[in-house]
Amino acid sequence: MNLNLNALIAKNLPNQLEGKVASYIPALAQVNPNQLGIALYDLKNQQIIEAGDSEVRFAIESISKVITLLWAIKKLGLKEVFNYVGSRQTGFAFNSILNMEINKDEHPLNPFVNVGAIMTTSLIVEDKQACVHPFEEILTFAKEICHDPDIYLDDTIYHSEKRTGDLNRSLAYYLKSEKMMIAEVEPSLDTYFKQCSIMVTTKSLANLGAVLANDGIKPWDGKRIISSESATATKSLMMTTGLYNQSGTYSRLIGVPTKSGVGGGLVSAAPHKFGIGIFSPALNNEGNSVAGLTLLEDVANKLDLNIF
Ligand code: DON
Repeated sequence: MNLNLNALIAKNLPNQLEGKVASYIPALAQVNPNQLGIALYDLKNQQIIEAGDSEVRFAIESISKVITLLWAIKKLGLKEVFNYVGSRQTGFAFNSILNMEINKDEHPLNPFVNVGAIMTTSLIVEDKQACVHPFEEILTFAKEICHDPDIYLDDTIYHSEKRTGDLNRSLAYYLKSEKMMIAEVEPSLDTYFKQCSIMVTTKSLANLGAVLANDGIKPWDGKRIISSESATATKSLMMTTGLYNQSGTYSRLIGVPTKSGVGGGLVSAAPHKFGIGIFSPALNNEGNSVAGLTLLEDVANKLDLNIF
């Protein structure tokens, strides 16, 4: 593969100056913005290549919504999950309550905005049959699908999320008051705050992307972990809603299913080619990593990853 990742890191790192680290969750405001790392899982050659701050651990934040969606589908089935959450763009910020009020829809519009993710997590919490410790279940699944036994819950970030999560609380109580959420609000929120506070590296995310790119089979051991239809549905939602209101723009510019998190992470799945994890914590106004997206654009162009 003719790709000088170090040169691409050097080229794109200065772009972080155009962004800001998330500060509405105080623990995230402490992160050094001057970081950029990437890991690529190459499905053809069965190898990971990495550069820059690829080994730094950071909070997964909204990328956890991919993992909980996959876990909910695995437990409950695709049809059942999408009885409770839609597949539409919102046109509003990821934590907006307005989209629910204005649309008067009977479900959260998609699983990647906060209200839809809290709904999805509540389905896992409500599944009494198997779920006594919902967060532990999610954490175990995250370690497996990210092929990373070192993923852990960061208590400082979790408490910071919980202390300042009033908008998320209002979204969850809105769901409850409209009788969309069956589960209890507090355990659902607590599980959501915890899932956002797990610590990953770009390599964990490259592995997650590789499973999605490989139609649900873990490329490192050849075993299926999620159904092919679950991988396909999730990739299509990543493409259409994974970067919130910038999803359309980056569908055009990059053309690779991608999900962001306010910890500065990006996970991408280039079907049958690569899983990609990127980290750079300075964000644009939509909550997406600035240098991360320009790096992803360069890599996607050089490796010809645009699915269109
Ligand atoms: O609930 C929140 O607002 C955060 N824990 C996660 C939001 C997030 O990562 C949005 N993504 N870019």
